[in-house]
Amino acid sequence: MAHHIFPPKLLLLFLSLFAMVALSSTSYDHRRTYIIHMDKSAMPAPFTDHETWYKSMLMDSGNSDHPPIHLYTYDHAIHGFSAVLSPSQLDRLRRVPGHLAAYPDTFGKLHTTRTPTFLGLRNHAGLWPAARFGEGLVIGIIDTGVWPESPSFDDRGMPPRPAAWRGACEDGAEFNASMCNRKLIGARSFSEGMKRHGLNISSTDDYDSPRDYYGHGSHTSSTAAGARVRGADYFGYAKGTASGLAPGAHVAMYKAIFANDDSDPDAAGSDVLAAMDRAIRDGVDAMSLSLGFPNTVPYDENVMALGAYAAMEKGIFVSCSAGNAGPHAYTIFNGAPWITTVGAGTVDRDYAASIALGNSSKTVLGRSMYPLGLYVSGVPLYYARDGNATREGCAPLSLNVSDVFGKVLLCTASDGDETDIESQIDEGIRVGAKAVIVEMNDSSFLEFNDFPTPYIAVRTSNINRIKSYVQSSSEPTVDVTFQVTILGAKPAPRVAYFSSRGPNRVSPHVLKPDVLAPGVDVLAAWAPNRGLVPLGDDYLTTDYALVSGTSMASPHIVGVAALIKAVHRDWSPAAVRSAIMTTARVSDNAGGPILDMTSGTAGTPLDYGAGHVDPERAVDPGLVYDMGPKEYVDFLCGLNYTARQIKTITRTGNFSCAEANIDLNYPSFMLILYTNTTSQTFRRVLTNVADGSGVYRAVVEAPRGMKVVVKPQILSFEGKFSKGEFVLSVDVDMGRENVRVDSDYIGNYGYISWVEVGGKHVVRSPIVSAYAP
Ligand SMILES: *[C@@H]1O[C@H](CO)[C@@H](O)[C@H](O)[C@H]1NC(C)=O
Ligand SMILES: *[C@@H]1O[C@H](CO)[C@@H](O)[C@H](O)[C@H]1NC(C)=O
Ligand SMILES: *[C@@H]1O[C@H](CO)[C@@H](O)[C@H](O)[C@H]1NC(C)=O
Ligand SMILES: *[C@@H]1O[C@H](CO)[C@@H](O)[C@H](O)[C@H]1NC(C)=O
Ligand SMILES: *[C@@H]1O[C@H](CO)[C@@H](O)[C@H](O)[C@H]1NC(C)=O
Ligand SMILES: *[C@@H]1O[C@H](CO)[C@@H](O)[C@H](O)[C@H]1NC(C)=O
Ligand SMILES: *[C@@H]1O[C@H](CO)[C@@H](O)[C@H](O)[C@H]1NC(C)=O
Ligand SMILES: *[C@@H]1O[C@H](CO)[C@@H](O)[C@H](O)[C@H]1NC(C)=O
Ligand SMILES: *[C@@H]1O[C@H](CO)[C@@H](O)[C@H](O)[C@H]1NC(C)=O
Repeated sequence: MAHHIFPPKLLLLFLSLFAMVALSSTSYDHRRTYIIHMDKSAMPAPFTDHETWYKSMLMDSGNSDHPPIHLYTYDHAIHGFSAVLSPSQLDRLRRVPGHLAAYPDTFGKLHTTRTPTFLGLRNHAGLWPAARFGEGLVIGIIDTGVWPESPSFDDRGMPPRPAAWRGACEDGAEFNASMCNRKLIGARSFSEGMKRHGLNISSTDDYDSPRDYYGHGSHTSSTAAGARVRGADYFGYAKGTASGLAPGAHVAMYKAIFANDDSDPDAAGSDVLAAMDRAIRDGVDAMSLSLGFPNTVPYDENVMALGAYAAMEKGIFVSCSAGNAGPHAYTIFNGAPWITTVGAGTVDRDYAASIALGNSSKTVLGRSMYPLGLYVSGVPLYYARDGNATREGCAPLSLNVSDVFGKVLLCTASDGDETDIESQIDEGIRVGAKAVIVEMNDSSFLEFNDFPTPYIAVRTSNINRIKSYVQSSSEPTVDVTFQVTILGAKPAPRVAYFSSRGPNRVSPHVLKPDVLAPGVDVLAAWAPNRGLVPLGDDYLTTDYALVSGTSMASPHIVGVAALIKAVHRDWSPAAVRSAIMTTARVSDNAGGPILDMTSGTAGTPLDYGAGHVDPERAVDPGLVYDMGPKEYVDFLCGLNYTARQIKTITRTGNFSCAEANIDLNYPSFMLILYTNTTSQTFRRVLTNVADGSGVYRAVVEAPRGMKVVVKPQILSFEGKFSKGEFVLSVDVDMGRENVRVDSDYIGNYGYISWVEVGGKHVVRSPIVSAYAP
């Protein structure tokens, strides 16, 4: 992959998840928090409600010295409860009739606005007005809390909360229920699990309430449904109107992620499950979670998969971040097939500094996100050229203060070796340069926080223009203008290097991620009192921040889902996802294929799923691949899950595995290659969601080495909601032309499109073959 000079922080942040240690431990009794799954139908007659049953069970299991501690009762996301238990107490509970499973608490990590315009949404035409901007819908966000005073949560023009809404705003530290309004209609906080894990919130800067300390939750929730705010910017960059994707929708915040003293915020599974349980009960229409728990355990042990399953049954659309563990294959998080899994792409906005070369009337652009408006005009340019210092120029301790102080320093790259740009910049700062120009072709890997000092990353071709100016001028000078925002930058989108790639380890037979959405330098609300950008020994604060991560991508999709639901109230989560996937774009704004930022070459569906979301087309897909709980149960059976595992997920014993089948009615096709499995037959049912009848013709694009046969080739739909079935067989010649995901040779891909005859609808799905993990 392309080298980047600064470590990709998101990646590090994410990987540290599994190195997590208990904050404190009173190990004398080896007590831990467990999530206990119960079969409610086994409740003995004398009990009239399950909570009393669970609590009495807990009391019976205890001893007087260290009684079990009850944390939460769950009734919507799962059936059961969480509690702090000793090994002997756990043993006793396991013997209670109706006990299904008990798992120790797990811990998750965050997958740390022009975007609506980039996505093609317009005020006066198309989806926004058609969906009344998402009016009447409630989007639940499980995150780090919310900053209610942000203008993004202003409720001017919002209708009252929906009559069926059961949520509430909870008082707490620096948070008062009266801070909610018609935009922010719910705000709750779930911290019991983290507290039992040893977190003392009052010893951190975080708030024991729905108030956001970290900024992340304000960002994700305002991305999904924030009000339109004019004049938002980030230290002079990205000036414009910040708007959520569904600015007419209501927001409900469920805080379940808390700051730790020395590390990034953490979430306890018991808290996240409680948050999802409550969100389902409160009546959200859609939910977004931008965090991940260990991604190799079966779905019955993953709290997000569990909560999302229950939500799906209630018709609640759930989108989740795909993870920031890319760019290698098999790094997907949140890949359960009932979740919409979202990868991150770049947007068509870039940040620059403009360098005017003395009197030459020539101007050169370089990449910079230096947050201060620095005044640089007519300043001498000092070129640390070969010969004077080292061959590389600007090597540590190679420059002289008296030569460079107060000047703009030009540092070029050495041939061959990787230049250590960070140390060049440090050298420039050491000798008092006013600004440093460094040579770098792929500066798109640099993020805002990589610019604590005024430097400009300039590509080699432009460096050469500066060099020839220096050579032609006896006293070279420059003017530098920082805080330049470039709109319409091309090519965009590209797949962000950090975005987790498919396949998904837990169930590779379903292609993941599903779709790509903006996740690089997204502008949205932030906690204004939190130091964000390091500058010298200090930090700058901001009320709107440019942030990157698949965390930012998921709320875009939940916002789009809310807009679609506002137009099509009766669509299932699978239908909404199908509409988003089959209309997604696989080309960029320069007309080429969507590129993988890591390699600079064409990405594949293992990077971007079905493509990049296109909301205007998603609202009118023509046909959808629909499904519901029955298909997912068949799928779990097909994965050979035990009856107990399936019961843990579905919360009912009333199911049958007679039709076990890993081939879901999914809007994508995934063939996992084993040495002797190189072909597969898929069956699909399409539902016409357009008004009136329609005839569709199958168009296959397949690479050499992949044979695709579709039967029948023509599907006719009589009227709205009529169905059509087809069979698609894929045969792969394993010796041929495999695509790669980063350095991993992984398989190949093509597409099948159902193209409306004499109409405008095109229903496209990727067909992917990939080697088994
Ligand atoms: C919440 O705010 C209201 C109105 O500002 C005030 O009357 C009330 O005392 C506050 N409650 C708390 C717990 O601070
Ligand atoms: C939590 O931290 C606060 C502030 O540091 C301290 O006063 C308090 O005693 C701590 N509580 C516990 C239970 O450790
Ligand atoms: C730039 O132009 C000004 C006025 O035209 C002149 O005085 C100055 O010497 C020029 N500087 C350079 C570096 O050529
Ligand atoms: C290189 O060094 C010589 C003397 O050591 C000096 O005269 C000259 O200005 C230097 N060149 C640059 C570009 O700094
Ligand atoms: C820096 O430059 C000054 C003035 O030209 C000179 O006296 C001094 O020796 C130089 N220092 C180094 C470390 O080269
Ligand atoms: C940038 O790309 C150009 C052209 O591809 C190449 O000649 C140059 O060496 C590259 N620069 C760096 C610093 O890698
Ligand atoms: C489930 O078990 C059957 C029978 O042992 C086997 O053929 C099949 O491959 C298994 N399915 C998966 C997804 O592992
Ligand atoms: C069990 O499931 C079947 C099929 O979905 C349904 O017809 C039946 O009513 C269910 N029985 C109970 C007790 O829920
Ligand atoms: C797959 O191939 C291997 C040898 O290449 C063979 O031993 C094995 O039985 C085959 N498995 C199946 C399911 O055909």
